[in-house]
Amino acid sequence: MKYDFTTIMDRRGMDAIAVDNIPYSDVQVKEGFSVIPMWVADMNFQTVPTIPEAIIKRTEHAAYGYFEPRAEYYDSIVNWQHVRNGVEGLTKEAIGYENGVLGGVVSAMNVLCSKGDKILVHAPTYIGFTHSLENNGYHLVLSSLKQDADGIWRMDYEDMEKKIKEEHIHAAVLCSPHNPCGRVWERWELEKAMELYRKYDVYVVSDEIWSDLTLTGYRHIPTQMISEDAKMRTIAMYAPSKTFNLAGLVGSYHIIYNPYLRERIRKESSLSHYNTMNVLSMYALTGGYSEAGMQWVDELCQVLTENVDFAYKYIREHFEGVEVSRPQGTYMLFLDCQKWCETHNVTIDELQKKGVKVGVIWQDGRPFHGEYGIRMNLALPKQLVEEAFERLTKWVFVD
Ligand SMILES: Cc1ncc(COP(=O)(O)O)c(C=O)c1O
Repeated sequence: MKYDFTTIMDRRGMDAIAVDNIPYSDVQVKEGFSVIPMWVADMNFQTVPTIPEAIIKRTEHAAYGYFEPRAEYYDSIVNWQHVRNGVEGLTKEAIGYENGVLGGVVSAMNVLCSKGDKILVHAPTYIGFTHSLENNGYHLVLSSLKQDADGIWRMDYEDMEKKIKEEHIHAAVLCSPHNPCGRVWERWELEKAMELYRKYDVYVVSDEIWSDLTLTGYRHIPTQMISEDAKMRTIAMYAPSKTFNLAGLVGSYHIIYNPYLRERIRKESSLSHYNTMNVLSMYALTGGYSEAGMQWVDELCQVLTENVDFAYKYIREHFEGVEVSRPQGTYMLFLDCQKWCETHNVTIDELQKKGVKVGVIWQDGRPFHGEYGIRMNLALPKQLVEEAFERLTKWVFVD
């Protein structure tokens, strides 16, 4: 590999909630155990060097005044979307800056819905959708994903249709690839969903923040590429933040082809007067959306595939009663520990705390609508992933 995915970074004191804010306030990591950050969705790898290089070069010019995004900003996005996702015909006009994907989701919903409206989302659900949409006065209607005979999470189209009809729904969030289930939706699945949305005139916010992180053998299909109708009824959200570990720099973007929706959403997101780009995050994006960035992401996806394969096999071989579907994208595992908890007479709370005590800082899956769920981030050097699973065997999933 050209890039470094094996060095264990010490992120302590370096502005990382992953290691400095343990999400279980009443539990202490026992002495002698290091913190292995496996919760919040950022990575424990150094990003591609062209990103800090671009930022550092820009900081050397010591004036950071008002600015307009450069042509390179838009060109890099157009090129990235073309090469990585096969998108044809994207132009600058359809691209718009968003401070964050979630803010973009909310702005879009403010245009598509009245306050108190119902929005269709799939369950398990990324916690950020729940918080940001409920915080803005929307009600989420959950349509549960169902595992098929091979354990693959699928949309339940009948249930979606029933809920759309009964609850008079006209807006949906589609998470593609899906966090936390790790699905990279197949074309027929997206076609079927978009056909349903067309039938009932449901507008779609397609959150594709994870689109670059697909595991070996899987390819992301942008929702807007499904059909001309899908192109016009979908507001798509992207960011370099998951791809390159840039969440702390802030800087996402939308792609909206429908001119009416685009103008209304831009107006809506302008209202706070906060939704503006930071000059250094512009350089971060152009540094990442480059040839070097592409090679780095290819290598990253190989590393993530190895970690997922290791963890998936390990769980199946060692933790009887813990169920997990093999992810196809993202770097998240979503464990269902119901059988294990019931067999061992342990609550999901107790189980999670046992992990945290030995430094495995995983995340409560209940706010994602997994009753016995735990979300685990695998974007760490393999050595740390192995160490975490050894600790789980020795001290957590014990009889
Ligand atoms: C599906 C999904 N959307 C959005 C976000 C957050 O994006 P942002 O920080 O740009 O609001 C995350 C972060 O984990 C995510 O998983």
